[in-house]
Amino acid sequence: MILVSGGAGFIGSNFVLDWIAAGGGPVLNLDKLTYAGNLENLRSLQGDARHVFVQGDIGDQKLVGELLARHQPRAVVNFAAESHVDRSIHAPGTFIETNVVGTFRLLEEVRAYWSGLEGAAKQDFRFLHVSTDEVYGSLSAADPAFTEQNKYEPNSPYSASKAASDHLVRAYHHTYGLPVLTTNCSNNYGPYHFPEKLIPLMIVNALAGKPLPVYGDGQQIRDWLYVGDHCSAIRRVLQAGRVGEVYNVGGWNEKPNIEIVQTICGLLDQLQPRADGASYAGQITYVKDRPGHDRRYAIDARKIERELGWKPQETFDTGIRKTVQWYLAHGDWVQRVQSGAYREWIATQYAQAA
Ligand code: NAD
Ligand code: DAU
Repeated sequence: MILVSGGAGFIGSNFVLDWIAAGGGPVLNLDKLTYAGNLENLRSLQGDARHVFVQGDIGDQKLVGELLARHQPRAVVNFAAESHVDRSIHAPGTFIETNVVGTFRLLEEVRAYWSGLEGAAKQDFRFLHVSTDEVYGSLSAADPAFTEQNKYEPNSPYSASKAASDHLVRAYHHTYGLPVLTTNCSNNYGPYHFPEKLIPLMIVNALAGKPLPVYGDGQQIRDWLYVGDHCSAIRRVLQAGRVGEVYNVGGWNEKPNIEIVQTICGLLDQLQPRADGASYAGQITYVKDRPGHDRRYAIDARKIERELGWKPQETFDTGIRKTVQWYLAHGDWVQRVQSGAYREWIATQYAQAA
């Protein structure tokens, strides 16, 4: 068994589904079910003994200690975090609580558990920390992409909290020998993405006839990676990554935000044209910029390719088309997320599992 924290969120739930589909074995999924946690994402695993769900906080040391002792996982994959930059600007406290203090407490319990292991179980154990490219700060147009050697220059409360967690993970390896791995990934997109982030927000707003809010001049650049490719990278790092190492994960898809929004509008124009025949692009609205908005992120993913043979499978064209099609086919999921009904569903369907 492996313990996945934050496995009801966007990337975590994709990871759990992919892991089980790939025959990776049973998963113990520890998730606090904040607004971002949605067990409906894992509906297809209901009643499947390979998925054990526990509602709880990575910062609850008693619970984490008990779970580790009872389930004896061979690895912990830590997705649990507050993940939305805009929310971190409005209310940074929970980011410090979960991303910094929560990760620290999780590390403490994992260290205690790992210290008590023996032989192959101890040698083979891994703690994989899922982090972000935002810890490296912002690039100008001419700068080379982030490598694992870039210094940390986080600019938002979110990225600062993730940077702090990365440092703790590193320190637990150097000080205590905990067998850690860290991945720093670029912007993900794909199914089950909560519609507060750029791509799903633009799709659902477009279909609802609402404005498509582009921050500032829309020329900020992100590197986009289809979520399934991120999941395969994590599986590969867990399987063969060198202990103590950091791996940057990216899609080689640098694009300005406005281009992303125009691409989504173009796909929707083809797949579900507006009733009045006008383009969805007419809904694009430039709005006030995000405070401290990072201008450009870019990932140099050559280390993971060279050392572990991992490369993304999706191009941006294939991935974004799949994603738009997924949202068109899952209007019920979007509707329940927007109405809050997904939380009621959790209460009724998972009352016994919690
Ligand atoms: P998300 O916000 O969709 O999901 C986070 C999950 O963590 C939710 O299910 C939530 O309920 C859970 N959670 C929050 N606090 C918790 C706590 N204290 N204890 C247990 N569970 C808790 O996030 P995501 O986009 O899936 O990101 C997952 C991880 O990947 C995060 O660590 C994030 O920093 C990192 N990451 C995200 C991206 C991206 O583009 N989304 C890119 C690189 C790295
Ligand atoms: O780079 C990896 C990071 O990507 C992850 O660590 C974060 O968890 C994840 O949320 C994401 O952060 P971003 O801030 O890049 O993602 P977001 O989708 O919020 O915004 C993407 C870009 O689009 C960013 O430049 C801000 C802009 N934007 C966003 C929203 C929500 C808009 O222009 N309008 C919007 O309404």
